[in-house]
Amino acid sequence: MKPKTIHIQDVTLRDGNQALKRPWTLNEKIEVFDLLVSLNVDGIEVGFPFSNESEFYTCQVLSKRAPKGKPIAALSRANEKEIAVTWEAIQQADSPRMHIVYPVSDFSIKHVLKITEKEVIQKIKSSVSFARSIVGPNHQIQFSGEHFGDAIQNFEFTKLAFMTAIEAGANIINLPNTVERYRPMVFVNMVKEIKESIGDKAMISIHTHNDLGMATATSVESVYVGAEQIEVALNGLGERAGNTNLYETVIALHQNGESLNIQFDRIYPTAKRISELTGIPIGEKTPIIGEDIFSHRSGIHQDGVTKTMNQSKGAYRTFSPEFVGRFDKETISFTNQSGHKAIEFLLRQKGIEVSKEEIHHLFSVAKSISSKENNREITETELVELSRSILTYQ
Ligand code: KIV
Ligand code: ZN
Repeated sequence: MKPKTIHIQDVTLRDGNQALKRPWTLNEKIEVFDLLVSLNVDGIEVGFPFSNESEFYTCQVLSKRAPKGKPIAALSRANEKEIAVTWEAIQQADSPRMHIVYPVSDFSIKHVLKITEKEVIQKIKSSVSFARSIVGPNHQIQFSGEHFGDAIQNFEFTKLAFMTAIEAGANIINLPNTVERYRPMVFVNMVKEIKESIGDKAMISIHTHNDLGMATATSVESVYVGAEQIEVALNGLGERAGNTNLYETVIALHQNGESLNIQFDRIYPTAKRISELTGIPIGEKTPIIGEDIFSHRSGIHQDGVTKTMNQSKGAYRTFSPEFVGRFDKETISFTNQSGHKAIEFLLRQKGIEVSKEEIHHLFSVAKSISSKENNREITETELVELSRSILTYQ
């Protein structure tokens, strides 16, 4: 079921931007676009042109700026006026892609659209056919069934909705978990059924949100039941708890042996810049990009880390800092949770060789200082000073 290639489609400039407290200016969007190009994502959704004039203009600018062959998408709701405006905004890209969204879940149809399923099918058919008539035969049309992840009650109808979109001219069927409500495997099984139903008639894409914190897991597992495209966002930006995080998704796929076009060492510099451009700080413990993710403080871990430091597989490391473009290193710090290995390692790094007995002595002193002072961390400098004052090597 696994696809031959996995297409990483970035939606930061659309889903990410629409959820910012202060959406980006043209110049900021250009900068983010260029970051995405250097990261070498496979495709970029540049915005929602119908939302306002400056968004429309920005989509035009970015479309003209797009590298040859890079799919450039923009979002439209399922009505002819909006589709025409959206197409006008992106048609100058070398490879423009029309993206149409319409709800498919029973709940949305009854409570938001307040129309019949028959009317939903008609709307999908007429909007996608209209899009096909204006984009011509050679450009891609992506159809998103909004709230797909919540379409369990009317799943047979949802399959029909997607078949209708394909027959009307869509070549990509995007399956959004617009609001994450259930377990990842509930969603993944739904993706599998859609794949079985549409076969190779269209590419399957996944678009997940992180309301329960499982968006990356859901997207990554969807690849193994036939999804060829994953929609992601830089720094996990996006509505509410955000979209599937680009960094986590690509690293997880890479770790599982999948080959991607991503320029992995652009990840960290990109994340830092996006944090500056949004004013949203990166959490210390954030996977891939958090400041503290290469620190080891417990004795058991420090033992494993020091024994496997220069090996390609580390006992307590999935990937190395340099792989994602970081200049920091795995660090060992000393707290009251740490072991002898931490002392030995930290001193050795400073060129200080000490005996087992000396390490043992230093360890007890450092531990008791930490415990007496509210369990605080003992810094590398303090350890060196401590060793100077109490050890015999001086
Ligand atoms: O979350 C969502 O359903 C969307 C669609 C437009 C794909 O963002
Ligand atoms: Zn979304």
